[in-house]
Amino acid sequence: MGRVLWFLLNLTIQIMKRAILTSLLFIAALASLGCVEVTSSSTRVVAEKDLESLAKYREWTLVNPTPQLMEPAAAISCFIIPGRHEPSPHLNKYVSVFVNPVAREQMMTRQQPKFPAGSMIVKEKLGSRDSKMPELLTAMIKREPGYNPENGDWEYLVLNATASMIVERGKLTRCSDCHTSYKRSDFVTRTYLPQTVTSALKP
Ligand code: HEC
Repeated sequence: MGRVLWFLLNLTIQIMKRAILTSLLFIAALASLGCVEVTSSSTRVVAEKDLESLAKYREWTLVNPTPQLMEPAAAISCFIIPGRHEPSPHLNKYVSVFVNPVAREQMMTRQQPKFPAGSMIVKEKLGSRDSKMPELLTAMIKREPGYNPENGDWEYLVLNATASMIVERGKLTRCSDCHTSYKRSDFVTRTYLPQTVTSALKP
């Protein structure tokens, strides 16, 4: 009988040990989940900061005083969102381009611009010359050197029309593949610069 009791006592101790170990492991797992949560929330903070700045693009410098007819090639591919097709890529679309204060000088005064990190450019795609509300926004943000050196360290973004949401962002190759032809001007096309501005650009 004593043996049985001894055995049962031992068994209980073993079970309790295991329970303590399991709960310790459980707590550790929770803590590590907590860590993951911390990292993702700090990336979220960066993302939210970018969105906060981008959302105010209408307070920046408007590069072209009147909306410019969009280049047909860009009208077709500049705004293609996966799974969505333009009803007719040949429809005339207009663009208005805005630069933040960091990017302003290079955009407006330099023959061969070199945009500093923190530069932001937003392009509104407009359904017609006098539409008040853009259909969609695309943007470029100049990142720190090393972000994507072959493509001028630009990050490409697609935003919804009200700049309240980033639809897509990153080293979007379908954007950079085309913008690479504008390498001479730091991957920025500037096709919409008014003649008066273009003729006054400094070396
Ligand atoms: C087929 C070529 C092509 C592709 C692909 C393309 N773009 Fe562009 N992009 C242009 C052209 C041309 C302009 C000049 C304005 C215009 O005609 O629309 C331009 C202008 C811009 C501008 C204003 C700054 C500048 O460079 O002049 C931004 C911002 C921009 N594009 C973002 C994007 C993003 C984001 C993507 C990918 C989702 C993209 N582009 C894909 C050709 C392209």
